[in-house]
Parts: sequence; C-alpha cells; structure tokens
Amino acid sequence: MAQFRIVVTAGDGIGPEVVNEAVKVLKAIGKKYNHTFDFQNELIGGVAIDATGEALTKETLDECNKADAVLLGAVGSPKYDNPLNKVRPEDGLLALRKGMGLYANLRPVKVLPMLVNGTNFKPEAIRGVDIMVVRELTGGLYFGRPKRRYTTSRGRRGVDSMVYSEQEIARIAKVGFELAKSRGKKLMSVDKANVLETSRLWRQVVSEVAKDYPDIEVENQLVDSCAMRLIQNPRSIDVVVTENTFGDILTDEASMLAGSMGMLPSASLAGAPKEGVKVSGMYEPIHGSAPKRAGLNMANPIATILSGAMMLRYSLALSKEAKAIEDAVLAVLNDDYRTYDIMSEGMKKVGTKEMGDLIAAKV
Ligand code: IPM
Ligand code: MG
Repeated sequence: MAQFRIVVTAGDGIGPEVVNEAVKVLKAIGKKYNHTFDFQNELIGGVAIDATGEALTKETLDECNKADAVLLGAVGSPKYDNPLNKVRPEDGLLALRKGMGLYANLRPVKVLPMLVNGTNFKPEAIRGVDIMVVRELTGGLYFGRPKRRYTTSRGRRGVDSMVYSEQEIARIAKVGFELAKSRGKKLMSVDKANVLETSRLWRQVVSEVAKDYPDIEVENQLVDSCAMRLIQNPRSIDVVVTENTFGDILTDEASMLAGSMGMLPSASLAGAPKEGVKVSGMYEPIHGSAPKRAGLNMANPIATILSGAMMLRYSLALSKEAKAIEDAVLAVLNDDYRTYDIMSEGMKKVGTKEMGDLIAAKV
C-alpha cells in the first residue's frame, strides 16, 4: 500500500477530457492494487493565462516539483495565437519542462497488431514497428539565445538560436544508449551534420559516449533522410536519439505509423529510466489541444492513458501496474472499440468517456 501525489495540469482544448480518462484509469489501478493516488489540479497554458496572466506560475511549478509525478493534457488555444501576444500557452509547457529539468523525452511509437490495417500504410510495411524516440527536451532551438523579434532600419528581423553544450548532448546520448541496451541494441543518432555546427558537435559527442557502450550498434542519420526512413522502412529502427526540434517533427510523422497521434504517449524525464528506480517526470500525450474537437467527447484518450502507464513505470516504480494499463488498452482494442481517429469498417465507434470507461473496467 503506497500513497502518491500527482499534479494534474489538464490545460487547454481536449486536455481536460483526455486527462479525466487517464485519472479514471489510474483510480481503477489504485483500487485494484491498493495504492492511493492523490490528484491535485493545477493550471497551465491558456487557462492559466486567463486566470493569472502567466502560462505557468512559480507556485504551480513548485507544486509540480514537489509531486511524485505530473500528468499533463495539452496546451494551446487559438485565443492566444496572435503573434503580437506577449505570452503564449506553449510558454507554460516549455517553462515546466525546463523548470523540472526534464531533458529526456521518451516517445514510444508502437504499431499495435489490431490497428495495422487501419493506417495509411501497407500492413506489411509497418507490422511490428516498435521504435523509441528519445527527444532532447530542454535545449536546442527551443531555448537557445538570442531568441527575439526586432526592427532594424531595413525592416523586421527574427532570430532563434540552436545551441548545445557537450554536457547536454552527452546526457541525452546516454539515455539513448541505456534504452538501446534494454531493447534491440541499435541506436540511430539523428542530426544535420552536413550543415549545422551543433549537429557536428552532436556527432562527436555521441561517438565519445558510444565507447562506453560497445554492444550497441550506432548509426548516424541525417534528419531529412531519417524522415524518409521512418516511412520507407520503420521496422529497421529501434531507438532514435535526436535534438529537440528534430524530435518534435519526427514524432508527429512517426505517429502516423501507429494510426493516429491519439495513440502516442510520452514521458519527460529528469534522467535515464531505470527499472525499480523513481525518476522525476511529467507525462503527456504527444498530440496538441485540438481546439476544434474540444468539448465534443470525441478525442482519443489512449495516448494520455498510456502516458499514465509510463508515469507508473518511470516515476512511481510500479511496473506491474503500468503493464496492467497497457494490457487493458490492448484488450479494449481487441474488443473492436475505436475512437473516431482510429475508426475503421466493422469496428464499434465510441467517445472519449466510453473509451476511458472500457479501459478502466478492464484494469
Ligand atoms: C509537443 C508539442 C509542443 C512542442 C508544443 C505544444 C510546444 O508540439 O510536445 O510535441 O513543440 O514540444
Ligand atoms: Mg509536437
């Protein structure tokens, strides 16, 4: 019997709806395995700006840092899309990642057998795909300085900076190697070393870290050709490690292999995951706030529910319970229930709440 405090930052759009279902499933786990999860709701994103003027307050960040784990829905709202706005919902998410030191973002891309016929790909091209993308999350283009818009005598200019230190690269490379060690022993390091200096440093440092992992087969891949490989031969890929922006783009692309963005969970960690060790982390689906779908009981909650499973595994060291959630998701999909985004002929279409109920019942 254990007690855990989980901060829930549901955020914007479909965030609250999908998070509700993940909380429902976690409560079912608590009941079955005799754990108490205390959920504490906090604001992030557009709803936080509405209430406080900031996308993430210092108080909320402190609460997140004190909790056993953070479960996040999504941030982003058309209300704040105007480029003239000083503060954006996304700033809250970036501040949370940085403020919790979550430099390692794990995004597993798994093609589930019962969904293999429901994607835009030939089933034989994607059957069995099981990729772990390790995205660097607190550096690179997202955070590098200078970063600003300004006016010169010759017009307006904007600048973002891609910056990496060798320490930042080494620690994320280690996460990639550790994961490869526990999986298929293959690591694809993705960069743009034919053009970018940060990428050339990335390659150097990855090859230095590789010396500690003689059993891992390392392959350097340029990001453009990686984008192609993901579609051309995704079954050949095991673990991918890459910089922040590349990882953002490649994982949206890779999600299509799994049928929908609504299937992809993620874990943002402050260190390499280790069986039985609790790592500080934040858990969220890779999809956005989908404002057009909000409030319609349509969104697929599976990505968030599976993020809850990752939370149990990595931050609470409850791997048996994590597996129970993953098995429940498989069981419900095997019973032919589908949300709109993964719907195909002959299947039973359900909404967000129904999908959550079904999965909770299978736990
Ligand atoms: C993601 C999202 C975020 C990102 C946005 C909402 C800031 O696209 O988690 O992939 O770019 O990291
Ligand atoms: Mg993204």
